[in-house]
Parts: sequence; C-alpha cells; structure tokens
Amino acid sequence: MDQSGRYSPQSAPATEDGFDLAAADAALAGTPFAGKLRYFPTIHSTNTYAMQQADAGAPEGMVYLADEQTAGRGRGAHAWSSPPGSGLYVSVLLRPRMAPADALWLSLAAGLAVRAAVEEVTSLRADLRWPNDLLLGRRKFCGILTELNAEVTRVRHAVVGIGINVHQEQFPEELRTLATSLCIETGRNWARQDLLLALLQSLQREVSALTSATNHAESILRRLEGASSWIRGRRVRVEEGEGFSGITEGLDARGFLVVRTAEGLRTVYSGGVREDHSATVR
Ligand code: BTN
Repeated sequence: MDQSGRYSPQSAPATEDGFDLAAADAALAGTPFAGKLRYFPTIHSTNTYAMQQADAGAPEGMVYLADEQTAGRGRGAHAWSSPPGSGLYVSVLLRPRMAPADALWLSLAAGLAVRAAVEEVTSLRADLRWPNDLLLGRRKFCGILTELNAEVTRVRHAVVGIGINVHQEQFPEELRTLATSLCIETGRNWARQDLLLALLQSLQREVSALTSATNHAESILRRLEGASSWIRGRRVRVEEGEGFSGITEGLDARGFLVVRTAEGLRTVYSGGVREDHSATVR
C-alpha cells in the first residue's frame, strides 16, 4: 500500500513458495491472461480490488494475485482466512457475453475448472458442494466467490475469486472441523504457481466453452453429477432465509439445487448447503 492508501502491483519475491511471474506469463501465452497478471504481497481483497479495477475499465483477462489478504471475503458476507504464504488467493476479471440470469453457469463452471486443476496438479479428486465449494472428505479447502456488475440483460463484468488452502498445517479451533488444506490432506507441499497456471488454463477452457459452445450448460450439469456427492440423496441444511432442511434431488435445468422438504420440493437460489445431522426433515 502506498502513502495515499492505494494498493499497487509489485514483482513477486523469490520466497520459499513464491510466484515466478515472468515464467507464469510465458506459460499463459496465447490465453487471454498473458501479460495481465498482477501480484500483491498484501492486499485487502483481490476480489474487491478486481471489482474496482473493472469499474475503472480494466480489460477482460486481468488476474489479481496476492500472497496475503487482510480482508479476504467469502460468499454470504463470510470472511476468507488468507494468511501470508499459505494459500492461493486469486481473482480473475471476465467480461462474458451473457445475461445475468445465466451467471450461475459461470460459477458452476468455475468450480469444475478449479476441481480439474487441483486434480491435474495433485491427483486429488475433490467433492463439489453446490454451488462451488471444494471439499476433501468432509472439510473444505477451496471456495469461490463470483461477483457481478450487470444490467438486467447484460453482464458488464464478472470477477471470479478463488481461494485455495495450500500450505496450512492447522487451522484455528473454530475452523478445525470445517477446513482443510492440500498439505494436511497429502502430507506434502504443492507449488502455488503450478496450481495457479493449471487453474487459469482450466478456467479459460470452461469460460470459452460456456460463451461459445451450444449445450455447454448440459455438459456442466452432467459433469457436476459425477463430481459431487451433494447433488442427490444428501440430507442438507440450506442456509437461505430462516434456513430449511431436506434431501437433495438434483439440479434443475438452470443449475439450481432442488431439495425435497416435508412441505415439498424447494429450489435453493442463494445460500449454501451444509450437512444436516438432525434426524427430522423440517
Ligand atoms: C467462499 O467459499 O465463501 C468463497 C471464498 C473466496 C475466497 C477468494 S480468495 C481470492 C478472492 N478474494 C476474496 O476476497 N475472496 C476470494
């Protein structure tokens, strides 16, 4: 941060698991991200910064990457713990030609892209919890926050913010049963640069298919069925409004999760879902 309180991108130091931005740029040649990587040793939130830059006219494909976030944000006004040197914190600016009503596809596609990237680098097959949390076993190691600036008929820009717990060896007491990291799951460390490159390439494939290929939505629905144990037959608590419980019954044609409750089928439009340990479905 400079004296006027503004953040400005810097070159990455050669720390233990630092980023080699020149090598990353070379690897991204031919993608919309080439020459558009910006690194911050510390920043409030890469998503907040990306949304500000997008408002100010930054081009599609900008990638904002940080070693530490002091105010990392998650979905539903949750915070995202972002200690230095521990995780991958990255936000990608997109200007997709789509209606805001279709933006859920972007979010679901981002989840599939990150899952594929993690598998490519680590061979781990994460479980996708709707809409796009990535879990290993019962604990979450990656979250995605997709934010939009839109008119009713047109998305002006979207920011896909991805947080991956990479090197954490433990978590604070309140997160211990909920959170995990790639290091905890595999007993070894993974280079954040490898994860970054794999995920940008994978995200590029998904986004370009989403905005150009016909029936890509169907492909997303089909692949989600194979990548998530949460979509069918799972007793969940839905964190929407006052909350409700039920058994998941698949995704509807727009990608929203359908839950069978004691009162009938309900569609989950906003909040996330959690495992429900209570015996009765209310
Ligand atoms: C969630 O699971 O609730 C979403 C977490 C998203 C965290 C990432 S880290 C990079 C980007 N910057 C933020 O402030 N949030 C996202």
